[in-house]
Amino acid sequence: MRKKIVAGNWKMNNDISEGLKLASEVVNMAADEISSDVTMVLITPYIHLKSVSDLLKGSENVFLGSQNCHEQESGAFTGEISAAMLKSVGTQYVVLGHSERREYFEESDEVLAAKTDIVLKHEMTPIFCCGESLDIRENADPYAYVKQQITNSLFHLPEEEILKVVIAYEPIWAIGTGKTASKEQAQEMHASLREHIAGKYGATVANEISILYGGSAKPSNAPELFACEDVDGGLIGGASLKSRDFIDIAKSF
Ligand code: 13P
Repeated sequence: MRKKIVAGNWKMNNDISEGLKLASEVVNMAADEISSDVTMVLITPYIHLKSVSDLLKGSENVFLGSQNCHEQESGAFTGEISAAMLKSVGTQYVVLGHSERREYFEESDEVLAAKTDIVLKHEMTPIFCCGESLDIRENADPYAYVKQQITNSLFHLPEEEILKVVIAYEPIWAIGTGKTASKEQAQEMHASLREHIAGKYGATVANEISILYGGSAKPSNAPELFACEDVDGGLIGGASLKSRDFIDIAKSF
């Protein structure tokens, strides 16, 4: 059975007191309202991780995530953070290859392959992001493009390692734009990615990997997206900054 996951990517929002308030609201509401088969993840800025980690102790269905990590073990990389550091404060999930990092920080498929390796080595779960721009959606083959991202960054992994990866399909044209992929568009891409993984690793492996949708997901559209056969949850940006909305999304399965 694939895991159902709703992860909230706070991006560069919330100072520490705002972050702790949001995290504690989510934890309290999740305890009362979210069924145990749904995993929730709070993906906070680095400086919040330790405090949110302490706050999550005792929570059964809310976990901690980072928005990035460096691909090297340690060393002279001013301003960067290592997988070991993230692990040491209780981080369980690490987002890799978000389109904002690919675009603004020029993260390549090769670097993301190395980041995936180090996150797995430190026994955390990569949430590997992929997705096409509007230009590719309208003028090229978005399926081939996204499949290539997966091939380049994940297909070096042995079967037992790829089984530990969560994939997030985030069409760039839907991120923060209020424009959401239709349920048909989301299902078609998710099914195509699963088929691609099955081509390399077999259907049994492909059927075990959670594929999340991201891009203007909110309480009003989450039910139809999560009802799609190959959509196993969401990576939520803006709506994860409001505890009520985030919880309502997690109740949408
Ligand atoms: P929005 O939900 O704000 O569109 O952001 C999606 C996203 O980038 C999550 O990582």
